[in-house]
Amino acid sequence: MPEKSSVRVISREKATNIMIANGKGGVGKTTLATNLAAHLSVIGPVGILDLDPQGSSRFWLQLRGEREPKIICLNSKEYDRGQVTRTWMAHKVSQQVRYVVCDTPAGLGSPKLDQLLKETDVLLIPVAPSQIDIHATAAFVKSLLLNPQFRARPVRLGVVMNRVKRNTLSFQKLEKFLASLNIPVVATIRDTQNYLKAVEAGMGINELPKITPEDEKSWRDTIAWVRQSDATPAAMLARQQAKQKLEKGTDELLGSGTNQTD
Ligand SMILES: Nc1ncnc2c1ncn2[C@@H]1O[C@H](COP(=O)(O)OP(=O)(O)O)[C@@H](O)[C@H]1O
Ligand SMILES: [Mg+2]
Repeated sequence: MPEKSSVRVISREKATNIMIANGKGGVGKTTLATNLAAHLSVIGPVGILDLDPQGSSRFWLQLRGEREPKIICLNSKEYDRGQVTRTWMAHKVSQQVRYVVCDTPAGLGSPKLDQLLKETDVLLIPVAPSQIDIHATAAFVKSLLLNPQFRARPVRLGVVMNRVKRNTLSFQKLEKFLASLNIPVVATIRDTQNYLKAVEAGMGINELPKITPEDEKSWRDTIAWVRQSDATPAAMLARQQAKQKLEKGTDELLGSGTNQTD
């Protein structure tokens, strides 16, 4: 009888590459990356690619205990040598993991962003509620939608509103701006110390002893959106329309009176 292969094929499908990005620091990229990874690890094997030299997601992985589903650190020497695309691509086809969550540094732009976009399936942008954050996010969204690489290949794009203060003027403006560009607000995440508790324990908020229904909903919404199948023709049309609007100028879409306080 032939010997059993020692190679364990986890899935025949390619992994889903999920990039978390925003040109701005401190908006919740690492919080989103680690919590997303923790939630997805219940569904299938997950790897984290931490492209931020600060290494916060890698540090979180080191804190992770044995009781929680294992999440693999996908950082490699190849990446350190600057071969971003090859690393990103390799994980997509390696069948080692079902989801790759990529945490990125602030200030991510061309050419690294372009390389990453070549193999990204889903791009999530977390945004924090301050006017400065919202403006920086609008600029990031604009640069993305006008990026030739982004336009050449469909990437599903969604925004996660972090630390929500829903009734502020700047948030309402951002919501209008995103709606006018057909970019979905995937979920809202409330401001809670539980994210700090979870990160200190190498966990996702779902792995703490208790999670509130509101927090549960935030992540149910996020996971459902990440796992949706790609509505490509509609997405392409929406992107085309968004580009035309952006070419007219971001300020017009954000509305006037940007100096107003909340
Ligand atoms: N929803 C939230 N509630 C409470 N604290 C948060 C929340 N999101 C982020 N933080 C905290 O804000 C800080 C910045 O978040 P982080 O995820 O590290 O941002 P980034 O990776 O974009 O720089 C961290 O201390 C993090 O724990
Ligand atoms: Mg970070």
